[in-house]
Amino acid sequence: MFFFLFLPFISIFSVVLGEQCLQSPFIVPPTEKLDVVETFNKSGVTDDYLPVPPSGNLELILSSKLIPLGGIISPTLTYNYSLPTYHYSGVKKGELYTVFMLDIDWPSRDNPRERSYINGIVVNNPFDNILGGDFVVPFTPAVPEVNSGYHRYVGLLYKQNDVIDADSMDLLKLAKFKTRFSAVDFAATYNLGNPIAGNIFFSRYVTCS
Ligand SMILES: *[C@@H]1O[C@H](CO)[C@@H](O)[C@H](O)[C@H]1NC(C)=O
Ligand SMILES: *[C@@H]1O[C@H](CO)[C@@H](O)[C@H](O)[C@H]1NC(C)=O
Repeated sequence: MFFFLFLPFISIFSVVLGEQCLQSPFIVPPTEKLDVVETFNKSGVTDDYLPVPPSGNLELILSSKLIPLGGIISPTLTYNYSLPTYHYSGVKKGELYTVFMLDIDWPSRDNPRERSYINGIVVNNPFDNILGGDFVVPFTPAVPEVNSGYHRYVGLLYKQNDVIDADSMDLLKLAKFKTRFSAVDFAATYNLGNPIAGNIFFSRYVTCS
């Protein structure tokens, strides 16, 4: 299923960019070692998007690589992955979790008029299988628009207080209208409280001409 979802994406980029523009995948770790709250604060995510940042570290693996908190990655690392993998050591047996991957700089950080763009939302995940729940918005690759600068990609994990009806009309709509998504409003609507764990990485797409 994911394979077919990604096919149009891949072909568009190969046509637009041509062979020589496809950078080989890279990961640049952050220059200073910060914890999760410091990373959210320093990158401006706290001020721009999420007033109460998470303190837990939501580990993210893309294309079999652990993405360092606050690191920079090439879009090539994500555009043909099937699914990310998430781990958080603080999950509790029997609880359900909601996870988001969001691009909060859509279409660009300079002019984020459609903040934020949903790269994936999965609700009702069991504690021992984050992404084993209901896919409200299936994952799409973390690829910014060409030449729109660095985007901040934010992963958030919430502990649920209730089961969420993934077939409700409001949630079904999210898969179709993926922009202007507010994590804070969603959390309030579904009684999620504040996120318990999170991550941030940066990515940009540049042309090579
Ligand atoms: C992060 O930002 C929040 C909100 O501005 C602030 O209350 C908190 O003290 C900051 N924490 C750190 C570790 O910088
Ligand atoms: C993308 O997928 C192809 C085919 O599976 C693989 O050969 C290639 O290494 C992948 N690229 C990245 C960046 O993972």
